[in-house]
Amino acid sequence: MFAVTGITGNVGSVVARMLLAEREDVRAIVRSGAKSTEWEEQGCETFVADIRDQHALAKAYSGMRGAFVMLPMCTLEDDDGFNLNDVVDSIHYALREGKPERVVCLSTLQSLVDKSASSNAFSYLESKLGTLPMPLAFVRSAWYVENSAREVAEACETGVLRSFLYPLDRAVPMIATADVGRVIAQTLCETWSGKRTIEVVGPAQVSPNELAKVLGWVLGREINAEAVPRERWEQIFSAKTQSTNLYIQMLDALNAGSAHREVAGIDRRTGHIHPEVVLNDLVARALTWP
Ligand SMILES: NC(=O)c1ccc[n+]([C@@H]2O[C@H](COP(=O)([O-])OP(=O)(O)OC[C@H]3O[C@@H](n4cnc5c(N)ncnc54)[C@H](OP(=O)(O)O)[C@@H]3O)[C@@H](O)[C@H]2O)c1
Repeated sequence: MFAVTGITGNVGSVVARMLLAEREDVRAIVRSGAKSTEWEEQGCETFVADIRDQHALAKAYSGMRGAFVMLPMCTLEDDDGFNLNDVVDSIHYALREGKPERVVCLSTLQSLVDKSASSNAFSYLESKLGTLPMPLAFVRSAWYVENSAREVAEACETGVLRSFLYPLDRAVPMIATADVGRVIAQTLCETWSGKRTIEVVGPAQVSPNELAKVLGWVLGREINAEAVPRERWEQIFSAKTQSTNLYIQMLDALNAGSAHREVAGIDRRTGHIHPEVVLNDLVARALTWP
């Protein structure tokens, strides 16, 4: 059986569905019983564990053939006294004690890591989990096309696609989360020894202008990209959680122009899903939301 953390999210849900499609048993780790039903209906065993509860999480990973782990981005609150490094520590403890046979951990491309940030959760995640004894794969993902969901919904109304990435004509590595989930599910089903790193990028690098153009095709109207000045971000990302800081750190790293460099010796996978497929989906969701 495979344990899937973040199963209600973009990547975890794809990991679980792909494993189920391969007739593998899946343990869905959810943080509240209310989220269990959908996954039980799909044939998963559910296990309630908050990612910050290291003891519950250790039980969730215990006896598993493999575990998928990730650092959630936007749903951890600061006021509970936890920061992202504490979450990494909790995951580390749970894997060490739970001893799943192998682990696949979602991480991010080096070009998305803001070296100027005093603490970087992804660097800490990789160094801390890297000390674990079991076979472990870091899947370093490009920027998600789905990150623009909110801005796509706005653009359907306004014709303007706001962008936190700039310059608007600079292409950066992007990927559909379904491609990330597919690579993770495939990796979980493999056997290996030691540590490995896999980079996943989409079929092409994409600039904000290109994204706006593709959205225009999807909507059948002209859409223009517009950069959101850095000084307005604080106001827009009003919830000042550690996780929001992580998101901003990733944006700053991309905007600082640390171009993505291919690192020798790293296993590299290219996704199949083009941005228009994701944008079609985001538009459909935006138009059906109340
Ligand atoms: N954004 C990028 O471009 C990018 C690039 C590279 C890597 N990443 C990595 O990908 C992650 C985002 O993946 P995603 O889009 O699949 O995430 P997502 O859709 O935001 O889903 C987050 C998942 O984590 C769960 N979760 C949140 N807080 C939890 C807690 N306290 N205990 C247990 N579960 C909890 C959520 O459950 P609920 O349904 O209960 O909220 C949800 O299932 C980022 O956090 C980052 O680590 C992101």
